[in-house]
Amino acid sequence: MLLVHRIIPRIPLRLSQRFISSAPAISVLGQTFKTDSWTNATPQILNLVGRDLYKDPNHPVGILKSLVENRFNGLDYTFYDDFNPVVSTYENFDVLGFPADHPGRSVHDSYYLNSKYLLRTHTSAHEHQCFKRCHTPGYFITGDVYRRDEIDRTHYPVFHQMEGARQWVRSDYKSNEELLEKIQADLDATPKSSGIIVTDVGHDPVENPKQDYMSERETDLIGQHLKRTIEVVVSEVFNAAKIAAKEAGSKEEYLNEPLKIRWVEAYFPWTSPSWEIEVWWKGEWLECCGCGLVREQVFKNSGKGSDTIGWAFGIGLDRIAMLLFDIPDIRLFWTQDARFRDQFREGKISLFSPYSKYPGSIRDISFWLPKESDGEFKELHANDLMEAVRANAGDLAESVKLIDEFVHPKTGRKSQCYRVNYQSMDRNVTNEEVNRVHDKTREELVEKFGLELR
Ligand code: PHE
Repeated sequence: MLLVHRIIPRIPLRLSQRFISSAPAISVLGQTFKTDSWTNATPQILNLVGRDLYKDPNHPVGILKSLVENRFNGLDYTFYDDFNPVVSTYENFDVLGFPADHPGRSVHDSYYLNSKYLLRTHTSAHEHQCFKRCHTPGYFITGDVYRRDEIDRTHYPVFHQMEGARQWVRSDYKSNEELLEKIQADLDATPKSSGIIVTDVGHDPVENPKQDYMSERETDLIGQHLKRTIEVVVSEVFNAAKIAAKEAGSKEEYLNEPLKIRWVEAYFPWTSPSWEIEVWWKGEWLECCGCGLVREQVFKNSGKGSDTIGWAFGIGLDRIAMLLFDIPDIRLFWTQDARFRDQFREGKISLFSPYSKYPGSIRDISFWLPKESDGEFKELHANDLMEAVRANAGDLAESVKLIDEFVHPKTGRKSQCYRVNYQSMDRNVTNEEVNRVHDKTREELVEKFGLELR
């Protein structure tokens, strides 16, 4: 989920298919945007803009947000949750130093309203505003973020992030010594998390270097402040998950063991050094949160200059809320079904009890990829196929997987087969309905991408 994975381009852009919206303009949250060849935000996605699940105190995502915010109350942070999810490419990418050819900017991965505006792909898009306007040393930003992605139980095109950041302004202090003392005092004032075992790999001085404008001592102290802060968030949340599981009667062994976490190196265009924290949870390392020391250029772009040093992190809320509340499918967050929504109450972590299990219905889509005039395949980006499924099936699509791929030995043509599982969380779906939806998706794929169905 983190943008760090986007360092590796998936498919050369030359092969990309742009979506020309048929409407000359689209309206989002009362603002109108002229469409152009970049427009690819579908009506289904735009429909979810403004649902603001994270502002609902009785929704699992809202409950998790409050849990974290309450922990940091009184510790010099401002809490923001009102930023518009429509941002400019400058805010989402340029101000943070994303290179022009960074794959995160691709139309395959993001939802564009037009070439200049998109649905934010991360809450970091608001960092520069907050560094400028915030009157406390630190801040948190919560918001919905949008990414074109695969379809399965843990991926949904809208999810939620909480950004945290903290800054120190050198000129507020008489000397560097005084500044260092203040950072040390802030570090001492950060609550220590108890009952966790931490492994830290440090950072590679060449690949993931300290910035020139910061001293060793500043880098070290601010790095410690950042890590301790995130450890507080993580231990708060995961210990709450353990208590909820115990209350629900679980006797599993991991509930009595200390929480294990590790720091691994990461790369983000706007922080250096950068890390990710992983939590050992039910037998696997779970990526939780990307972070790092904010680059000088970002402070400069925020009108602050080399006078300011600090850190930032971004944590994905949905995956964690799924663990905390034992929610098996991310689509449930979006259901309006009272059998889901009535199970959760402000301030309380309780395990979800499944209210129904409707059977799934599997359909395959097999096709030959078209060939370009130069004889090369015209690849279909997996996210484009996912989007066609979503556009027709909406939340009926439980998962989509590439199950077969081969090149015909004689003709050299390439074939792919994707398997879609249609399953509703709230009702029974008839075969006719599934067939109708599936046929429409197939037609759309032929029309848009020139596939030949098999
Ligand atoms: N915005 C990053 C992501 O979504 C996370 C991050 C936030 C990393 C702040 C560094 C600093 O992947």
